[in-house]
Amino acid sequence: MFYFGVDYYPEHWPESRWPLDAQMMQDVGFNVVRLAEFAWALMEPDDGVFDFSWLDRAIDVLTAHNIKIVLGTPSATPPPWLWQKLPDSVLVDETGHAREYGSRHEYSPTHPGYRDHAVRIARKMGEHYSDHPHVIGWQIDNEFGDRCYAPGTRHAFHDWLKQHYSSLEAVNDAWGTRFWSHVYTDWAQIPLPVRRVHGQHNPSLHLDYMRFISDVYVEFQQAQADVLRSVCPSHHFITHNLMGFTYPNINYFDLAKTLDFVSWDNYPRGFWVTTPQIAPAPLALGHATMRGLKKQNFWVMEQQSGQGSWDILPPMTRPGEIALWAYQALAHGADGLVFFRWRTARFGTEQYWHGILDHDGQGRRRYQEVKQMGEQIARIGALIDGSSVQARVGIVLSYDSRFAFQIQKNNVDFSYDKHLTDYFTALHAANIAVDILSPQDDFSAYSLVIVPALYVAEAETVTNLETFVSRGGTLVVTARSGVKDHTNLVVDIPLPGQLAALCGVEVQEYDSLLSGERRRVCFVWDESPQAGAATIWCDILQPTTAHVLARYDEDFYAEQPVVTSNTIGAGQALYVGTMGDQDFVNTIVRYACDLAGITGLLETPPQVEVVARWQGETRYLFVLNHSQTAQTVSIESPLFDLIREQTYSDHLHLAPKQVMILHAVSNL
Ligand code: GAL
Repeated sequence: MFYFGVDYYPEHWPESRWPLDAQMMQDVGFNVVRLAEFAWALMEPDDGVFDFSWLDRAIDVLTAHNIKIVLGTPSATPPPWLWQKLPDSVLVDETGHAREYGSRHEYSPTHPGYRDHAVRIARKMGEHYSDHPHVIGWQIDNEFGDRCYAPGTRHAFHDWLKQHYSSLEAVNDAWGTRFWSHVYTDWAQIPLPVRRVHGQHNPSLHLDYMRFISDVYVEFQQAQADVLRSVCPSHHFITHNLMGFTYPNINYFDLAKTLDFVSWDNYPRGFWVTTPQIAPAPLALGHATMRGLKKQNFWVMEQQSGQGSWDILPPMTRPGEIALWAYQALAHGADGLVFFRWRTARFGTEQYWHGILDHDGQGRRRYQEVKQMGEQIARIGALIDGSSVQARVGIVLSYDSRFAFQIQKNNVDFSYDKHLTDYFTALHAANIAVDILSPQDDFSAYSLVIVPALYVAEAETVTNLETFVSRGGTLVVTARSGVKDHTNLVVDIPLPGQLAALCGVEVQEYDSLLSGERRRVCFVWDESPQAGAATIWCDILQPTTAHVLARYDEDFYAEQPVVTSNTIGAGQALYVGTMGDQDFVNTIVRYACDLAGITGLLETPPQVEVVARWQGETRYLFVLNHSQTAQTVSIESPLFDLIREQTYSDHLHLAPKQVMILHAVSNL
């Protein structure tokens, strides 16, 4: 069954309205709602006093309309009595400022009293709904995240360090604390990396702190999942709504381990978006990352349906965008699609975060667009449910490196996230499916693996990459890889450190370019200026066993290698000694795909995306026109569009924002 639904807050509306809401939901084809995730104060109005009667009644109304229920645990929004009871349970931010009560996510994730209360309400909910025939699963908390620097968090950090290091001497050694006289003689002396120091903290302490706080959220989630699993039947799933690729503070591979599947919140046109045209590649990267966390399909638990804001309103969702983005999620592996939110709130911080219905409870254009999609999903949902994207290309996302670059950016223009996104964008433009991989993943299913700036490189990852290449894989490693060891010390061997033998190259010197500067590059196979330029970082390379693919064409290092290729066993390891502009990255990706025998699904104009989901031997081809204009795409054999139920023989004609789900005619 394909789950198609909406986030609903019945507690925001008079009970007399609930039956109409449920009827209207059924009319658009919704079969699931998420409830209760922010309703702690109503479910536990006072310490230890529980009241689920209103929620029971809401669930009765909804289930009478064949709607299944996902329940959220409410730990993101503590009630005032809890804050009053535990005034020291608030989060302290990196400037040392303690949060005031009055929004959400005020809590310190390390506070034991807070955690006990959160686990207790989760247990009570679990006990109350364990036998409910229409409850299908749970979402824990809401968008886990912010780093905390409270005094209690500092103690928890000391405990974490004691678990990870055999002794204080080992910590001093691993962090190089003799630098600036930081040799710790008592665990309690170890600070948190708050922003109130002169200059910067020790990068090794800082990286361990970031790993620790990520672990804190993983454990907090685990504590709630454990209690739910202990009281609920095994067919209740447990998930959490993550924040896609862009959220950089939690190791999502770790967070996903506890979950039955990942879900995430997809807001293409949130208040932070300032361009009229929404680029599809970053959205696709969000989906690919969420799919990559567990190498399985996922849900979107909050899919944007209206214009989103807390104060200044961004442009509204344009006609066709709601379904376009929702279908894009399906294309990339969503098996559940839940819109945020049903009706736009009249009160509270999110008065201007528009849902499917307006403030007045009327369903207008957005309602009609969702309804139209609901009719299509009723026909198509079951066909595609469980089918999967089959990627032969992987991009490695290293949270250790991502964290370490947050501490030391290396270059004013460098962004690890953007660098990885540039490689993804090049593949996406060619309609090549990509999985986002962890450094520890098994790479054997892939033909091409791209490792952008693996700054913190572990021996285990290097062995993993060597195995991949020697068995015939094509690997691309980029500049600033192999620079740091596990504890964020710079390695004492030539760069790219432990990757030097695999890449057959040594970095002799490196130049960090000024903002906006570029260096011309000559590729041995392509001399056109469109082949791109070096930007941000320029490694000057000395090949040991590699051969040269590109050289610099200016500055004192003109003629020196910038891209090399090394043969290991049956495969090739490319080293790319610069970040490069998008043209440069496109050139590298084209070359690497040729080597690995990877081709795109279809050739399309820019802004037209093609993704395939496979059900056994059957391929469903999603073609999505993200542009504002009509587009034409050539096809080689006839295809049938499941949405409009129409056959195309040699060309697809797509209206602005149109989506097709195509099926080979011979398979019908
Ligand atoms: C999400 C959050 C929702 C809602 C939405 C719109 O990040 O999970 O609860 O706040 O943003 O702001």
